[in-house]
Amino acid sequence: MHRIAFVNDKFISFRKARISIEDRGLQFADSVYEVIVVINKKIIDLDYHVSRLKFSLSELSINYKINKKKLNNIFIRLLNNNSIKNGIIYLQITRGVQSREHAYKTKLKPTIISYTQKKKFNLPDKNFKAYKAVTYPDIRWSRRDIKTTSLLPNILAASYAKKKGAYEAIFIKDNKITEAAHSNVWIIKDNVIITHPVNNDILRGITRTVIKKIVEDEKVVLKEKKFSLEQLLKADEVFITSSGSLITPINKVNNKIIKNGKIGILTKKLAKLLFQNYKNQKINEIN
Ligand code: PDD
Repeated sequence: MHRIAFVNDKFISFRKARISIEDRGLQFADSVYEVIVVINKKIIDLDYHVSRLKFSLSELSINYKINKKKLNNIFIRLLNNNSIKNGIIYLQITRGVQSREHAYKTKLKPTIISYTQKKKFNLPDKNFKAYKAVTYPDIRWSRRDIKTTSLLPNILAASYAKKKGAYEAIFIKDNKITEAAHSNVWIIKDNVIITHPVNNDILRGITRTVIKKIVEDEKVVLKEKKFSLEQLLKADEVFITSSGSLITPINKVNNKIIKNGKIGILTKKLAKLLFQNYKNQKINEIN
């Protein structure tokens, strides 16, 4: 199939999409990004992604004014042109092009890249799958709340996980679980759901935010507090969340099977509620 990408105000054949070799996103990872879920042709949680993107841009003083309507229209066109029913939209904004120098110039024109990928999600139906995770030291910088493409530690961790036959690498900092290479981490113990609080140590996941809202309506207790490796290994249920993995159960961490190795009841219930929330979201409209 002929894929189409969006680069700097133009829709272009995927194979012909190019950026400058002096783009600061390429040379310094001086850029931010978002990954947005598409389910049944519906763009999920666009408002949340737009506000996190604005936050990331502002924290790095990248001069780009987000126009939500324009972005929405670009995404709809990408989805239509690439025949995407289920998948993700990738959006990256770099600070722009500049003769190589660490310090940035203030009046650069940001580079905008967007394209789509088809994806089969791990949905809570008869094929709902649990995966193994491994732990890995959290060697990242101290502003993990900014969604930058500066992801080398995440890449090393994810590649280590892959080598070990695991789906995800869970980060440990000072014997506490922060998050994972590309997702947030949750445990359930005695019907209490626990996840790391939002601060500079983790990315404020959009899936995390939506689950928090879902949990408010259910009679379950959610505690946003730090938890240890021991608590993780002794949990009744463990799952991770992200726009790529939605809610994905974890049934083994390193060589320790979590509880009985089966997908937990509450994890499955939350995954169903999350999917229902997506189904209830409004259809994309061209503005
Ligand atoms: N990753 N933490 C990290 C380090 C992440 O990279 C992600 C998402 C999350 C979850 O955020 P959200 O729920 O907004 O997707 C948490 C994306 C999917 C990626 O890099 O591909």
